[in-house]
Amino acid sequence: MCGIVGYIGDKKASEILLKGLSYLEYRGYDSSGVALMTRNKIEIFKAPGKLNNLREVLSNQQNICNRSTVGIGHIRWATHGLPTELNAHPHTCNCGSLVVVHNGIIENYKELKNELLKYGCEFKSQTDSEVAAHLIAHEFQKTKDLLAAMTSAVKKIQGAYAFCAMHKTLPDRIVVARKNAPLIIGVGEGENFIASDIPAIIEYTKKAIYLNDNQIAEVKKNSVKIFDTDGNLLENKIEMLPFEPVALSKMGYKHYMLKEIHEQSDVARNVLSGKLKDPKSPVVLEDVKLSTNDLKNINRIQIIACGTSLHAGLVGKYILEKFAKIPTDIEASSEYIYRDTIADKNTLVIGISQSGETADTITAIKQVREKGSHVLIITNRPDSTMARLADSLLPVNAGIEVSVAATKSYTAQLLSLYLLTLYMTQIIDEKSVNDKEIISLKQEMLELPNKIETITNDTTSIKAVAKKYSGFKDFIFIARGINYPTSLEGALKLKEISYINATGYSAGELKHGPIAMLDETMPVLAILNKGAVYDKVMSNCEEAKARQAKLIGVSNYIDRKHKDLFDDILLIPNISDTLSPALNIVVLQLLAYYIAEYLGKDVDQPRNLAKSVTVE
Ligand code: AGP
Repeated sequence: MCGIVGYIGDKKASEILLKGLSYLEYRGYDSSGVALMTRNKIEIFKAPGKLNNLREVLSNQQNICNRSTVGIGHIRWATHGLPTELNAHPHTCNCGSLVVVHNGIIENYKELKNELLKYGCEFKSQTDSEVAAHLIAHEFQKTKDLLAAMTSAVKKIQGAYAFCAMHKTLPDRIVVARKNAPLIIGVGEGENFIASDIPAIIEYTKKAIYLNDNQIAEVKKNSVKIFDTDGNLLENKIEMLPFEPVALSKMGYKHYMLKEIHEQSDVARNVLSGKLKDPKSPVVLEDVKLSTNDLKNINRIQIIACGTSLHAGLVGKYILEKFAKIPTDIEASSEYIYRDTIADKNTLVIGISQSGETADTITAIKQVREKGSHVLIITNRPDSTMARLADSLLPVNAGIEVSVAATKSYTAQLLSLYLLTLYMTQIIDEKSVNDKEIISLKQEMLELPNKIETITNDTTSIKAVAKKYSGFKDFIFIARGINYPTSLEGALKLKEISYINATGYSAGELKHGPIAMLDETMPVLAILNKGAVYDKVMSNCEEAKARQAKLIGVSNYIDRKHKDLFDDILLIPNISDTLSPALNIVVLQLLAYYIAEYLGKDVDQPRNLAKSVTVE
């Protein structure tokens, strides 16, 4: 949440900051601001709302923009205080000599504020972050050394932070610090960059230093020095960034979300590539460090995740129990961390996260690591905090996902869970490689990319249904068995980007309460895969029809009963129950997308959301 960019070099800082912030807009977008260093003066520009507003403000400041080659910028997702200009970052001390931008939450900001008020600090905003500006400035008065001031300040701060600070008397440096909020330093030739996420700087450099928790760095145009909180100089570890700049283009699509939905067939090919060669070969997962012995000793699995990743994990539970036969629990990380959970060295904990930076999931992982459990992370960001905490890593290779609503990362997570399940099963029971059901599942997995393409290549009927139903205010999604998570994810997609009140239910639960809401104003979307639960879901659809609900079916089966029962039916290619979640979801993503499009919503940046939720 929130995005930080910093630049120090010889180029126009404002351009680099604005461009960088535009690539971080998916992290938060309710206000933004920059601080530009000019000859011993710091100029601050802020604007509420989208980044374009700041762009406009800066377009009237060409004189300053032309002169400044050092600056810091921020794009905000409000936690403390409304998204106003006053609450936007950068924040300053009383005299404006020191500026700071902050990602994270300062938990003890009230105590610090009360202390700072005694020294005459005047607070202008309602944010926790402003405390950092006054605190660092207060420490600066003692030594006139920004690095020392930052070091003393962070020792007093509780919570999560990525800070970036400048002082007008030291125009040759930016000082940064990190704890529980990502921050990288992009290394260039005669210039350096700072960012809370790779997209902001990938256009300029592929070399970066990942700052670790409790590290502070002094960034000048020709040097980067990293220190611990005791002031010891640490070694710079420069790594290569894993993305290409081209990943950040819409490639002719109207929205990133639509592009990312359409990319899913290629993403599926990528996920499988090198891991699943043919239906009769074992699955190869090089980064999973579980030995045969470890796997044989594992007596339970716990999956922890949030949002869409949680829904992928729910599918994981079905297949892990079905094939690997290990009892599997799944829970939202935000609940998991506040329970007396039972986990030990015989528990395999699977953390799933697109971003690898979700605060609740990181906290949960840290907790179970202390209990000695093996932590396996399934993430789209092998460079993330979670990946760094993992005992085993399963990168999903979906490529950077820009749209706030997760689509291709979900499909990639699902396929990774199928691969992991097959991998574990083949280790636990070597003979399973010859099992008919497993061979047929692998065959289907290899065919999946083409089936996804069949859906994305012709979206005419999905568009028509989207148009027809875009006026409804509420929706219910139902399914049973392995597609129950699909109903949750389909409903989440719709509500996230269209703000329509959509809820997913297991079809069997409908008559235990939700049916009370059904009438002609509440469409029901049913996922009907021809398999074990097909007839049961059909009966539940009958029950909904009897209450005059409009019915939409998503099915892989042509059934003459559909005509009388459903108002609309969306057909998908034939697929087994077991793998169907990976195909059904594509239809639901497209439906959500086109409904939101008809309603004219801001699809890629829905209100109140952020791509990566780095606060608990
Ligand atoms: C998905 O569309 C959401 N915006 C959200 O639910 C997301 O899946 C959740 O915040 C978890 O994020 P993560 O996968 O990066 O951990």
